[in-house]
Amino acid sequence: MNVIELQTAGSTNDYARRLAREGAASGTIIWAHEQTAGRGRQGRPWTSMPGNLFMSMILRPRVGVEHVGQLSFLSAVALANVLERIIPASAQIGLKWPNDLLINRKKAAGILIETENRMPWVVVGIGVNVASAPPDAVSLRAAGAKTCEAGHILGLLAKEMQGMVENWEKTGFKTIREAWLKRAYGLGEEVTARMPQETLTGIFKGIDQSGALQLQMPDGAVKTINSAEVFV
Ligand code: BTN
Repeated sequence: MNVIELQTAGSTNDYARRLAREGAASGTIIWAHEQTAGRGRQGRPWTSMPGNLFMSMILRPRVGVEHVGQLSFLSAVALANVLERIIPASAQIGLKWPNDLLINRKKAAGILIETENRMPWVVVGIGVNVASAPPDAVSLRAAGAKTCEAGHILGLLAKEMQGMVENWEKTGFKTIREAWLKRAYGLGEEVTARMPQETLTGIFKGIDQSGALQLQMPDGAVKTINSAEVFV
């Protein structure tokens, strides 16, 4: 595993995308101690507080381009597997569609997957609130984690992801989908999905083979939603 450790980056995702374009190998990881222009989903900034984990992994998955979106579920499950080893058993990990990780219903980590013009690479960016968190979120430290060292968590996560990616390339999405659904936040409950053109409220029934959200409407019809902000 090749980890490029930086004191400061604008956004580790931007750094990784540049390296990916230049041909960097699959598995290359960019790890920054600080980010000055961290990005979240939907163009939002990602508050990059000192002591937190900011990393981006370059992958060249051996799967069809239509399956690449499954990586956000894979990464969320990998992160949950790692964090459950270091936070107390009483703390509840939840995975919020499409790719937030919550501890006791508050956001502890976010994932930003990026690719370009169907290029054969994907950048998986992961931000974890290790030492501190914005007011409405939670840090691993506040959740009582055994280790609050970003580099240690990075090592565990990189190993977990490597194994899971190899398995996914061979066997597909089934086990990841099941593992994600076991931890899904709001499953079977009423949720609201806000999209640019409409807002829908219904029962969160699950995710399909591509990871799209299945929402059962009051008339019983199930809508498939590819992209939305979800409120539980
Ligand atoms: C989100 O929840 O909106 C996704 C947040 C992703 C943040 C990480 S931090 C490391 C990597 N570099 C970035 O600029 N963003 C991701």
